[in-house]
Amino acid sequence: MEIKRVVVIGSGTMGSGIAAHLCNANIPVTLLDLKTEISEKARERIYSSRPPLLLDKLKINNINIGNINDNFGVVKDVDWVVEAVVEKIDIKHNLYEKIFKTRKAGSIVSSNTSSIPIKVLSENLSEEDKKDFCITHFFNPVRYMGLLEIVKNENNDLEKINFLKDFCETLLGKGVIVCNDTPGFLGNRVGVYAMQVAMTEAFKMKLSVEEADAVFGRPMGIPKTGIFGLYDLIGIDLMADVLKSFIKELPEIDKFHKVAKEVPLVTKLIETGYTGRKGKGGFYRVNKESGKKVLEALNLETGEYASSKKINIKSDKVDLKNLINRKDKYGNYAWSVISEIIKYASSLIPNVTKEFNNIDEAMRLGFNWAKGPFEMLEEIGVKNFFEKVDSFENNEFLEKLSKSKNENFYGERQKYTNIETLGKIKRKAIKIDKNDSAEIFRFKDFNIVEFTTKANALDYDSMDCLKKATDKPLIIINESMQFSAGVNLNYVMDFAKQKDFKSIEKFIKYFQETCKHLKYCKNPVVSAPSGLTLGGGFEVLVQSNFVVTHTNIVMGLVETIVGLVPAGGGCKEMLWRWSQTDEAKKDPNFAPLKVFDIIGYAKTVTSPVEAEPLKYLKPEDKKIMNRNSLLPISRKILEENKNFKSPIECKFNLSGKVVKEKMIQVLEKLYNEKIILDHGMEVGKELANILSGGETSLDKTLSEDDLFKLELDSFMRLIETTKTQERIKHTLATGKPLVN
Ligand code: NAI
Repeated sequence: MEIKRVVVIGSGTMGSGIAAHLCNANIPVTLLDLKTEISEKARERIYSSRPPLLLDKLKINNINIGNINDNFGVVKDVDWVVEAVVEKIDIKHNLYEKIFKTRKAGSIVSSNTSSIPIKVLSENLSEEDKKDFCITHFFNPVRYMGLLEIVKNENNDLEKINFLKDFCETLLGKGVIVCNDTPGFLGNRVGVYAMQVAMTEAFKMKLSVEEADAVFGRPMGIPKTGIFGLYDLIGIDLMADVLKSFIKELPEIDKFHKVAKEVPLVTKLIETGYTGRKGKGGFYRVNKESGKKVLEALNLETGEYASSKKINIKSDKVDLKNLINRKDKYGNYAWSVISEIIKYASSLIPNVTKEFNNIDEAMRLGFNWAKGPFEMLEEIGVKNFFEKVDSFENNEFLEKLSKSKNENFYGERQKYTNIETLGKIKRKAIKIDKNDSAEIFRFKDFNIVEFTTKANALDYDSMDCLKKATDKPLIIINESMQFSAGVNLNYVMDFAKQKDFKSIEKFIKYFQETCKHLKYCKNPVVSAPSGLTLGGGFEVLVQSNFVVTHTNIVMGLVETIVGLVPAGGGCKEMLWRWSQTDEAKKDPNFAPLKVFDIIGYAKTVTSPVEAEPLKYLKPEDKKIMNRNSLLPISRKILEENKNFKSPIECKFNLSGKVVKEKMIQVLEKLYNEKIILDHGMEVGKELANILSGGETSLDKTLSEDDLFKLELDSFMRLIETTKTQERIKHTLATGKPLVN
């Protein structure tokens, strides 16, 4: 069997996401809807989506469009038909009748339904047709969410299911979990339950919206949208529909019923158009008071809005044991929520799935949790859990565990895939060192460094781990969402506030020294990024010997946004890459001017396809759709480079004043057009100084250390200015850059 062409029917949120992602995998796809205008609009939406659904905008023409009346014939030519129309059973049934009359014999037909059981969807199909029909439940946004649940039942041809699983894993890069036909499958069954527990407990324990979100968020290894923020994001009305469907499908004894009861305040929100971010607002809303935007939160007791309060529960790192043992309302809330989630998830074993690990992975891939319920239980500790928990009736899993008290009950991870993932290897590896910012694992003859801070922001400790880990071939990789958002600006600002610029200088020097060491030490270093790879994170990557990148990345040197310049070797390395081009060989000013443009505008890219033209990535860097494969491919590179020789040091011939003047002319033009102001001018001049080589001329040769020195000096001059400090403070407080 082969999948060469696909038809997606229904071009709404999910259909267009699926079509775009097939296009990313170079599979020609036809997108059909009731009218061609609808699928045409969908194609336009795909093209301009943010964050982009396409890896390469130029591939948009791989998506053909049409309507189900005039263009249905295309169904007979394809190997897979994906149905992604509205969640209405009659509409789906009518469509299947038409599809199965037209389709090529043996082709796969699947539905993207989130709530209708396969037995209901397929009730009118012949036994032969049932073999080829399954559910492929993608998550939104399709390109970025790792989970795909393939739902089968006893009628399916298992060989075909396995083939589809392989295809979606290899070509679409999904974490594919094959599930049984039970309500909400795995992800939503536990994920929606968790949301409902988090919400009902907040009401019960009288926590405010902001307080609940501050606990059921980062401290629990859950995205910072928390519970009420997530409700607003999904849509409060949509959540009500989802709950209705669970109530309908699940037997009354299921604990889901307890947390899915209608809440009068929520009903009122829906009735008055407060359906979340797409409506007038929800648990949060943005209010415009005298032209100023104010974020407000709903008071759960009075139903009134008031200016939203920032809650700091002083627990940024995931430390569940500490969190649930806190003797305050936050600790009580965390324990209630976590213990109920663990109880519910474990009650699904073995009837919903025999593999508890699949539930954890579904939560990780489908809800971006750092740990699933069973890993939470493992972290809390079996003994601790049973000492604290009150009751757990009808729960085979917990009953057994309470008797065995086996702290090492967990066993393997990521059982849904045969790939030797980072998650699997970490369980077998030895943790040889760790500090507050990173960990070093040793497996066989290589080391792994995993950063562990918020967004993997880098500081002195991160560098320390990198440096120590180069005693063996090294892979820099991580399981959390971001490779690294760059240098930890809080860390830098703490010194700046005390005017301790010496410590900042010491840190930057160590950063440079470490990056240089990564590049030139005797062992090969591979960086394997996914997600944010910005600023200092990019500098680590660009000075590694090899790169294996996930296709979902956001990459770039963004320092100028906060009034700084790259100072960990970013300017130097980009300059080197651009000086290797044919144009640079003809014109010595080509590379400096090009890099001045890229770094000056802090250009970021959202895929490897966009990264290569800027030389953030090289053609030989490996670009991988499936994040799970980053580690095995990095290992293969180490295997192939057993006789690795570190590169020869780069030398630079730069024209100094000559090219610097050209850069200043560019800045003056921008200044006159008021695109940059005084501070922008100052930052631009520092960048010009570095990229021109400073006080030099073409006949002089500069070393990498000379360029490091220029980067350091400029960085130090800028960090000492109040304007740069203001910019950093603003970005840290709001998450957004200061405009001018
Ligand atoms: P949507 O409302 O955004 O899009 C549905 C599309 O189907 C519309 O463009 C509509 O014109 C089209 N349509 C309706 N009847 C049709 C017919 N007879 N033939 C062809 N097209 C027809 O819906 P959405 O959100 O994309 O959902 C689609 C499916 O995916 C549903 O089954 C939903 O339960 C499921 N799902 C939705 C998720 C989400 O986050 N939105 C997540 C996972 C699954």
